[in-house]
Amino acid sequence: MNMDNTIVIEGLDGAGTTTQMHLIAKRLEEEGKKVFITHEPTDNPIGRIVRDVLQKKIKTTPEALALLFSADRDDHLFNEEYGLLKMIEDGCYIITDRYKYSSIAYQGAECNLEYIEAINSRFPHPSHLIFVDTSPESCMKRIERRGCEKELFERLEFLKKVRENYLKQFSSLPESVNYLYVDGEKSIEEVEEEIWTWLKSTNL
Ligand code: TYD
Repeated sequence: MNMDNTIVIEGLDGAGTTTQMHLIAKRLEEEGKKVFITHEPTDNPIGRIVRDVLQKKIKTTPEALALLFSADRDDHLFNEEYGLLKMIEDGCYIITDRYKYSSIAYQGAECNLEYIEAINSRFPHPSHLIFVDTSPESCMKRIERRGCEKELFERLEFLKKVRENYLKQFSSLPESVNYLYVDGEKSIEEVEEEIWTWLKSTNL
């Protein structure tokens, strides 16, 4: 399976991944590239069920939620009409705000890790992966500043565990993955510049 020209951005809630996704997309578009930005959970039917769980409208078990994330991802990638693999084949550059690494980090913090790995083993690695590392404390401050109702995982102690899980999995990535660790405490502009310089260095 080919996930060329696919950039995944990961980070804790409030880390700034969505902002960076838009900034990179703009830069690639300025170069005349066809770019598709997306996110997980998706806005497709299974992703909407996931959002209801995150917003605490539906209560379920951590394992059922893990399966829902995985089902949403399967559809996101392989759907015959709008799946990402089809778009990649059509020559699009994909940027996705979260992917399977979120499941290992978040669901791995409350379910059996081997089980979570197993239900995500079908999903290929992307060509590019960026981890925006913002401290759990800063993330909680940013989330509180938004003033919205807090979602399921937006708790300091939980985010600390999630960050550990991210760092652990990113220490053993296959060599085929171009990986960038970036300090999310830096300004939006600095993070953007660092990501862009790195992307160019990988000949994207
Ligand atoms: P996100 O859409 O990034 O948050 P926001 O609501 O601020 O836009 O992600 C939603 C939440 O889902 C976030 O807490 C991370 C979590 N998540 C998982 O736990 N597992 C997953 O596989 C994915 C994709 C997200």
